[in-house]
Amino acid sequence: MSTTIYYFTGTGNSLKVAKDLSSELEEVKLVQISKNNIEDISSDLSEKIGIVFPVYFLGLPTIVKSFLEKIQINKNAYIFAVATFGSGSGISIKQIENILNKKGAKLSASFGIAMPGSYQVMYPPYSEEKQQQLFKKEEEEILKIAPIIKNNQVVNKNGNLIVNTIGGFIYKSFKPNDKDENFWTDDKCNGCGTCSKICPANNIKIVEGKPKWKHNCELCVGCMQWCPQQSIQYKKNTVKRGRYHHPDIKVMELFQNH
Ligand SMILES: Cc1cc2nc3c(=O)[nH]c(=O)nc-3n(C[C@H](O)[C@H](O)[C@H](O)COP(=O)(O)O)c2cc1C
Repeated sequence: MSTTIYYFTGTGNSLKVAKDLSSELEEVKLVQISKNNIEDISSDLSEKIGIVFPVYFLGLPTIVKSFLEKIQINKNAYIFAVATFGSGSGISIKQIENILNKKGAKLSASFGIAMPGSYQVMYPPYSEEKQQQLFKKEEEEILKIAPIIKNNQVVNKNGNLIVNTIGGFIYKSFKPNDKDENFWTDDKCNGCGTCSKICPANNIKIVEGKPKWKHNCELCVGCMQWCPQQSIQYKKNTVKRGRYHHPDIKVMELFQNH
């Protein structure tokens, strides 16, 4: 049975999960959700479809939400979702369920995998030790999840009223587009263009050797996290902070064709 796994990622956590999962399943096509291809993917008639994504502000990244709203799918497909997050999946799974239900399809199984938190705008990177613990746990989780997906098992998770109420409220405040006006580069920027090459929102243009953000941001913070010079800052919050990206993912895996 053919499977397509769609993933969105900023620091590589969700790509790592998507890759690990595909190596446990058969005949998987991995497709990144990005500004580049969102217009091109209008339908997917696979019998098994997976969505792997990071949780943002307790919900879905806006591009993942638009993608799911737009795509036409086989209503009888086995659809699974894997959320990666620092502390919890919030309302993201409920959001997916609602979107699919409106299309007459349903979410057959959902999973959550804790990974190092990527929002260094608010907190420092996790310690090396904590990261290693999470990476080990992630590999164990994949081995539990893969057979469930292989066997088309249905996994129902009951929503939590408190999380849904608070999550809905917090998610409403998630307006990433213009947040990119808070990014700036310090003197270390050498105009290498890595930020522009990896931006899944095609939101960064190099102008006179420096990145310019175009206010169509997903707030994945990939630009800041993957900058080889660590020269991209968010307000003053990140000046003295380290950076994080998944150590098993190579920056080239995130390069876009724009
Ligand atoms: C803008 C932003 C908001 C985030 N909000 C949450 C959140 O509400 N809850 C949570 O548990 N993790 C949150 N995180 C952490 C990410 O969900 C987590 O690190 C994820 O694994 C990152 O995956 P990626 O590397 O594929 O982008 C947030 C990260 C970012 C960049």
